[in-house]
Amino acid sequence: MEKKITVLDIQNMKDDGQKITMLTAYDYPFARILDSVGVDILLVGDSSGSVIAGYENTLPVTMEEVMYHTKAVARGRKRALLVADMPFMSYQVSIPDARRNAGRLVKEGGAEAVKIEGGIQVKDTIKAIVDIDIPVMGHIGLTPQSIHRMGGYKIQGKKEGQAEALITDALAVEEAGAFSVVLEGIPTIVAERITRELKFPTIGIGAGPHCSGQVLVIHDLLGLSGRKLKFARQYMDLEKNISDAVKNYLKDVRGGNFPSEEESF
Ligand code: KIV
Repeated sequence: MEKKITVLDIQNMKDDGQKITMLTAYDYPFARILDSVGVDILLVGDSSGSVIAGYENTLPVTMEEVMYHTKAVARGRKRALLVADMPFMSYQVSIPDARRNAGRLVKEGGAEAVKIEGGIQVKDTIKAIVDIDIPVMGHIGLTPQSIHRMGGYKIQGKKEGQAEALITDALAVEEAGAFSVVLEGIPTIVAERITRELKFPTIGIGAGPHCSGQVLVIHDLLGLSGRKLKFARQYMDLEKNISDAVKNYLKDVRGGNFPSEEESF
């Protein structure tokens, strides 16, 4: 079996100048496929709220939903590092809550690390989780759980003072002991500076090419999310492939061509 990826390998990849690949996964078959082609990190993102559950945003996603997806992904992956997102309100109320919920994702879900949105304001929370030996991935910039504060999904770090605030956030996350940080929806130049100045790896999404690695929501990559995003390269039109396949099935059933004799007992 190929060597299992750990948080140490993720740091080594940055140190060796090797790009880190991360994709979201929410179920067993996708985990199996993405793992088998060598994705380094599988993220059970709370983007499941948008691309799986059909919610308007990620805020309604619950611990139980992330747990269900994490267990399924854990069964499908062998090599990739498995990171589970901590959903809205699973870590904001208190540190004991945050530790308990992070612990559940590891103990019951099979995650090897958790991801938390926020910068300096969640520094103590990150540290508290790292202190119980659960690796934490930070997430700063456009943080979808803060949609109401941001007034929508807006690129962060463009206005006067915002870039400095992002660098302060990144430093706080690193000092708290996180093993890496997602940089979402920030200018290339700011992401480049954070990646250069900080020791831990940065994983970008809508943050330009200079990050230590890149992440996409798998449904965006496959053309299955029903949305076109400037920063997300769509590698195929799976929605069309599925529609064509199902249309063929409907035609065959309605025309009496399925099942055939070979497909019958
Ligand atoms: O929920 C998610 O999928 C994420 C990634 C887009 C980084 O947080």
